[in-house]
Amino acid sequence: MTPEQNDLLCRVEGDAPMGTLMRQHWIPACMIEEVAEPDGTPLRVRLLGENMVVFRDSEGKVGALDELCPHRRASLVFGRNEECGLRCLYHGWKFDVNGNVVDMSSEPDGSHMHSKMKTRAFPVIENSGFVWVWMGDPDNVAEFNAPNWSTAAEGKISIMKIHGACNWAQILEGAIDSSHSSSLHSSNMPAATDVSGSTATETAWLRPSADKSPRIEVEKTPFGFRYAAIRKPLVDADKQDYVRTTLFIAPFTAVIPSNDQYHLSQLLIPVDDENTYFYWIAWSEDPEKGITQDAWRKFCGAEVGKDVEPVTYKKVRNYENGYLQDRAAMKAGDFTGIYGIPCQDMAMWESMGKIADRSEDNLGTSDKAIFTFRTQMYRAAQAVAKGEPAIGTAGDVLPQSKLISFQGMVPKGEDWKERNISAEEQALRDSASASKTAATEPAE
Ligand code: FES
Ligand SMILES: [Fe+2]
Repeated sequence: MTPEQNDLLCRVEGDAPMGTLMRQHWIPACMIEEVAEPDGTPLRVRLLGENMVVFRDSEGKVGALDELCPHRRASLVFGRNEECGLRCLYHGWKFDVNGNVVDMSSEPDGSHMHSKMKTRAFPVIENSGFVWVWMGDPDNVAEFNAPNWSTAAEGKISIMKIHGACNWAQILEGAIDSSHSSSLHSSNMPAATDVSGSTATETAWLRPSADKSPRIEVEKTPFGFRYAAIRKPLVDADKQDYVRTTLFIAPFTAVIPSNDQYHLSQLLIPVDDENTYFYWIAWSEDPEKGITQDAWRKFCGAEVGKDVEPVTYKKVRNYENGYLQDRAAMKAGDFTGIYGIPCQDMAMWESMGKIADRSEDNLGTSDKAIFTFRTQMYRAAQAVAKGEPAIGTAGDVLPQSKLISFQGMVPKGEDWKERNISAEEQALRDSASASKTAATEPAE
């Protein structure tokens, strides 16, 4: 990639096209648990380089306002959250969740100033464990497209959150990079002959393959793309392939292959050009399956207060301390010496620099999905810069809840794509190809 293309792909602040593209989608601001309590502590949230304050009022309504008070720009994060509003500490102006100024203690009785003023309030939706905000045109708010984990059974969404000190795109490239799992995570995802698909234990995900160089096949779709990583299985390699498919749902969601206990989705949300929130969601539509929130965070090495700091979600094992890499453990057989799958990833992503220089890397055949992501997204950013609609927002937008990934054995000669498409997606494809055929048929 040229440096210009790299900037188009990565940068989200100000009027950068990729930020404009993301503003045409609902964006997760935080987990619901971070603002669970009415009149609780307000939360500073930074997204696409903009700061806001998220709070839950006395009636349980969530608001997301510009962080700075419109009076003289003090932070509302320190404000008093009480009696259905957030009151600035400096001179006592008070705001409701819609940004209305409901009190101006510093102005004399009879002043009408407050009725003329409003602070910026972002539209908010609570769904599937997250508070989502709309940062785009307030007169053109898109319908909310609930994520694929919105189909989870009650209490079956577990979320891990970690701060990454680098650009969002290099983290997303990790989410759609099947081949790295066979090296970087090989100690957590060991090969086993007695499983036929990914199988979760308390400490590892077993796999029926030891193949480190998967064949990658990509299929572009209106929402982004899906790809299959096709590996030689340990058993019956002449008759079947071990296939794992991953979906990239533009602009920042990845659906990675499930195991026998839970499905896995990821959100890579740009804080600004050089920081990202990495959310990993383990969920189940089956009330008998899934993993508890505590067990999930423990498995990932992302327990709040132990592995990551409260509020900021910054890592205890980080770039500055070498991720506390344990060389003795490596000699004893652990592949990385770094604890936890996400922290192993973070060591790779953050070591690339704040914004990876893609003009200097050398892609191989196992990087087909990475190549597709880069070209698809910088072109999508170029399209937005020309005033065209953002990827994933125009035409027949499929509900994300209908998108699935697949992993398992596929007999040789069978098309993996058949295993990976829901009935709803198939119906949409059929109607799209029918209208294409109709359009190309010659007129009488
Ligand atoms: S700065 Fe907030 S009330 Fe004055
Ligand atoms: Fe990884």
